[in-house]
Order: sequence, then C-alpha cells, then structure tokens
Amino acid sequence: MKITLIGAGYVGLVTGTCLAEVGNNVLCLDVDPHKIATLKSGGIPIYEPGLEDMVRRNVAAGRLDFTTDIAAAVQFGDIQFIAVGTPPDEDGSADLQYVLDAARNIGRHMNGFKLVVDKSTVPVGTADRVRATIAETLASRGLEVDFCVASNPEFLKEGAAINDFMSPDRIVIGTDSERATQLLRRLYAPFQRNHERLVVMDVRSAELTKYAANAMLATRISFMNELALLAEKLGADIERVRQGIGSDPRIGYHFLYAGCGYGGSCFPKDVQALRRTAREYGAPLRILDAVETANEAQKRILVEKLKSRFGAQLDGRRFALWGLAFKPNTDDMREAPSRVIMEALWAMGATVAAYDPVAMPETRRLYGEHPSLMLAPHPMDALRDADALLIVTEWKAFRSADFAAMKALLRQPVIFDGRNLYDPATMRREGFEYFPIGRQA
Ligand SMILES: NC(=O)c1ccc[n+]([C@@H]2O[C@H](COP(=O)([O-])OP(=O)(O)OC[C@H]3O[C@@H](n4cnc5c(N)ncnc54)[C@H](O)[C@@H]3O)[C@@H](O)[C@H]2O)c1
Repeated sequence: MKITLIGAGYVGLVTGTCLAEVGNNVLCLDVDPHKIATLKSGGIPIYEPGLEDMVRRNVAAGRLDFTTDIAAAVQFGDIQFIAVGTPPDEDGSADLQYVLDAARNIGRHMNGFKLVVDKSTVPVGTADRVRATIAETLASRGLEVDFCVASNPEFLKEGAAINDFMSPDRIVIGTDSERATQLLRRLYAPFQRNHERLVVMDVRSAELTKYAANAMLATRISFMNELALLAEKLGADIERVRQGIGSDPRIGYHFLYAGCGYGGSCFPKDVQALRRTAREYGAPLRILDAVETANEAQKRILVEKLKSRFGAQLDGRRFALWGLAFKPNTDDMREAPSRVIMEALWAMGATVAAYDPVAMPETRRLYGEHPSLMLAPHPMDALRDADALLIVTEWKAFRSADFAAMKALLRQPVIFDGRNLYDPATMRREGFEYFPIGRQA
C-alpha cells in the first residue's frame, strides 16, 4: 500500500519505518527542513533503539523516503497518517494547529480518495474537525472528492517503540466507515498474525481511549509516589509494598514504581488536556487534578531531601546527576524531572555535573553553555569532588555500580536515589548516606 506519514517525529518516523518494513511504500513528510535533510543524508534525528538500521534498510530497499514537498506527499499516499505534535496550549488544552494545518494541506492537494488517519493524540471531537477542515478546503477548490477520517491512536513507548509497533498489544481503530475498517485491517494484518489485535470502535471512544490509557498509567505512578512518602514516615518499604500488591492479578506489576516523578512528551500534556476537556464538559476528573499535583511535588522530592541534608544555601556546592532523559532508552527531555532538579539546584547556588548515555546533546541544545552545568563524558567523571550524587533516570548502566570507586570520587558518600536502584542495607554497609524513595535510609 502507499502510505504518507505527515510529521516525521517519534511517532511518524517509527510508524512510517515499521509500515515500510512489512512491505508498504512510505513517504514521510515534515515541515522541518533540518529533520528531512538529516533523514535524507542517512542520519536519524532522534535516539530510538533499532530505528537507524531499520530506516537504512527500508530506504535502501526503496520503500521509505522523506520529503518537505507537501503536494507530493499528499498525492503519494492512499492513506494519510497525521502524526504531528499536539503540544499543550497555554490553558492546558491540546494545541491542534499542526493537526488542522495537516488537514488543510490534505484538502488543498488531494485529487482522489484518501483515508485520513489521526495518529496524533487528540481531544475527542478532533476527527470531526479534521473532516470539516478537509471538506471546507475541498469546497473552496470547487471539488467534490471522497475521503474518510479515522482515529488510530498510538500506544508505542519511546525506547521500545519498534517492538511496540511491530508487536502491539492492541490496535485501536475509531471509525464508522466500513471502507476505512477494511483498509486499516489490511494495513495492520502483518502485525497481528498470531491473533486479532484490532479493536474497532466509534471515533470518539477511540480518541478518549488514548487519553484514558495515559491518565490511568500516570495515576498509578502518582498513587505509588504518594504512598512512598507515607511509607517513609511509617517505617515501611515501598518496594515490598509494590511486590505485595503487584502480585494481585487485578493490580499487576506494571507502572507501580515509586520514583522522582513522571515526565516526557505524553503523560504530562495528556493528563492536562484530559482535565481541561473534563472541566469544559462539566464532568471534572478530580482524580487527575491530584495526579498532576502529586507529580509536580514528586519532581522536586530529591531537591527537598537534599535541602534537608545540605540546607537551602548551596553556594560552592557541586552535585553529580546521573540521568537527564525523562526515562531510559530515549534522548527525550520534554518535562523531564532532571530539568526541574537542575534548575532548582542552580537557583540555590549549586553547580551540576551531569551524565546521560544519550541525552547530553539534547541537554546542550536546551541549556547551551550554562555556566553551572558540566556534562561529564563518563558517569564516574561526574562524581569527582561532588557533594552528593542524584540518580534521576534508571539507565541500566547505573544499576551495577562500583561503590568503592564512587566513594573515592565523591567529596562525601551521599546518594539521593530517585529510582530506587540500590538496596538500602547494602548501601549502609558500603558506608553511604543513602536516600531512596519510600524506603528506610
Ligand atoms: N512520543 C511518543 O512517545 C508518543 C506516543 C504516542 C503518541 N504520541 C502522540 O503522537 C503525536 C506526535 O508526537 P511525537 O512525539 O512524534 O512529536 P514530535 O514533536 O517528535 O514530531 C512531530 C513532527 O511533526 C512535524 N510537523 C508539525 N506540523 C507539521 C505539518 N503541518 N506537516 C508535516 N509535519 C509537521 C514537526 O516538525 C515534528 O517533526 C503527539 O500527538 C503525541 O502526543 C507520542
């Protein structure tokens, strides 16, 4: 099939590449000429394990290409996926300008039937607006051309995006059109050979499903984070509690880790957008107000612990920070707890020596040559003469550390662990002052 991906970001590029991998012809359109130039020259603008090889393979096979030419992209695909960003507007609602731009462009350049698929995370009712925008644009051209709009929210996780796309738990399709269902069933057949994974529903339910999934996951995290603070005060261990409740099949183990808050490009903005929609429709999701408030506080939890240990005057102090990306296996730093932490430490006069296996170029892009930020080429280099180490992202490489070497490099053996990587008893034995989340130090 001939597919156009509108937006070649995390979702667009992964979707396009995986669709090419199973034999489709895919053209990825982006308005960012640098991104397209990078892709055209064989580079990858984002870090995503396995993606680079897959892009190269499909480009070489002639099934995957990139363009900034809107007319050519619209004419190319029988299916047009909209995978542009939907960042939060000032009031927290999803900003739909990029989605509606994409719709307008489709209306402006289409000459035959198109199935338009919203893959971006968009508020309920957006497919109707996309349909109306295309219809208006076609009318202004004096054309009557058949098209369908369907919703197909994306559930991939950055860092495991290829696997999530190639072996999805479910593929949600929102449409009332039999033609759209047939086309999407055909498109997704290679991804569900072992059992049917398509969940077909009406468009509005599909749009809400995506927000409901992210809101539920964010709720689990904030619940565990608040419970962790209580566990600390009660002399309990949140890790034990996690195992104790996760073993209940009604609860399960996923997304029950206490930590220093969730970030990323999805949870924060999707929780905000759903709260906003709920208020607008007079059915407030009070539970999500609490989820967000708890998360904002949790992003500062390491700073609060550090203030209790070192005071609020940190002039002349230097702290090591491991992990800048909002989670492992990505270089994405949107809404990352590391940013809140570094900015708070700088405001109190401290300097930061940070290390991340892949997000340091992104850190430079965000902060430039910040006078209070040193980026270390190796995790151990960040520790030299630091007053303490803060662990912010649970990269695998941090899990098995050389404690003796760490102790020798730090000015004093203090660790604030925002991801509970180590066993508190071991850390005590090793002579560290160890501050985990929800466990006894
Ligand atoms: N990143 C994730 O893990 C993830 C997972 C599931 C769903 N989503 C959702 O998918 C959508 C895209 O997210 P992302 O992380 O890929 O965003 P992104 O910012 O990485 O990519 C969006 C791309 O769209 C391009 N763009 C903007 N307007 C355009 C237009 N009119 N025509 C062509 N290109 C245009 C931008 O230049 C950018 O490259 C969002 O709605 C997001 O919520 C993201």
